[in-house]
Amino acid sequence: RDYWVVVPAAGTGKRMGADRPKQYLPLMGRPLLSLTLENVLSWPGLAGIVVALSKEDGFFPHLKEAQNPKVHTVIGGAERADSVLAALTYLIGRAVDDTPVLVHDAARPCITRRDIGALLDEGVSPIALLARPASDTVKQSRTLDGAPCAEQTLDRRRIWLAQTPQRAPLHLLYSCLSRALKQGKTVTDEASALEMYGHSPQLVAVQGDNLKVTHPFDLLVAEAILRLRYA
Ligand code: CTP
Ligand code: MG
Repeated sequence: RDYWVVVPAAGTGKRMGADRPKQYLPLMGRPLLSLTLENVLSWPGLAGIVVALSKEDGFFPHLKEAQNPKVHTVIGGAERADSVLAALTYLIGRAVDDTPVLVHDAARPCITRRDIGALLDEGVSPIALLARPASDTVKQSRTLDGAPCAEQTLDRRRIWLAQTPQRAPLHLLYSCLSRALKQGKTVTDEASALEMYGHSPQLVAVQGDNLKVTHPFDLLVAEAILRLRYA
């Protein structure tokens, strides 16, 4: 069945440290966000996209995807969760309550169709996210004499690194996210808001490269991934 995609793209890209938000830096000779949107527009069953943009954004209207009738925009907020909530608010009333919503970071342009297929598979829970099993050993720390020290080692077989897209029915996601924000909780992804109210999102192991462009080096890696894929 048809689903909506929410793309938070209202960040400033502090860690990238460039002259503009990272979603507008060139990748394969095009603005990164343009590649992400082109990718999402190719997914089968897509009803539409809601992109959350910063109030100060002057770049978006120049993207070719800005003209696509499936692409809608809203003004985002101070944190990623505020931007996602603004997009969900836009959808309430425009789509039925149980419409599947996939939230996908603007900063993940390399997501593959195969991984989208896996997340949308009929056998997968309607509340699910793409994630990668941890490959490094994970330490939980505490501060001793001002220095971080390893307190314990977590069981690596149970550690997953959350990625996007993350999916949930529209109304459920809206109510969990708005409740969590009203209660002043820190919400770094959609799954965490769902977990706070008793839901257990299914973890779908990602197969392809789906890195989040965060630091300057990631742009080089993303470019290499896409060149190899489309060569
Ligand atoms: N995002 C957003 N609204 C915010 C903050 C972030 O829509 N207030 C978006 C970003 O544009 C990005 C995604 O959420 O597509 C993931 O966030 P992140 O990688 O942290 O991007 P930035 O916040 O822009 O980067 P930084 O944290 O380095 O400043
Ligand atoms: Mg950020």
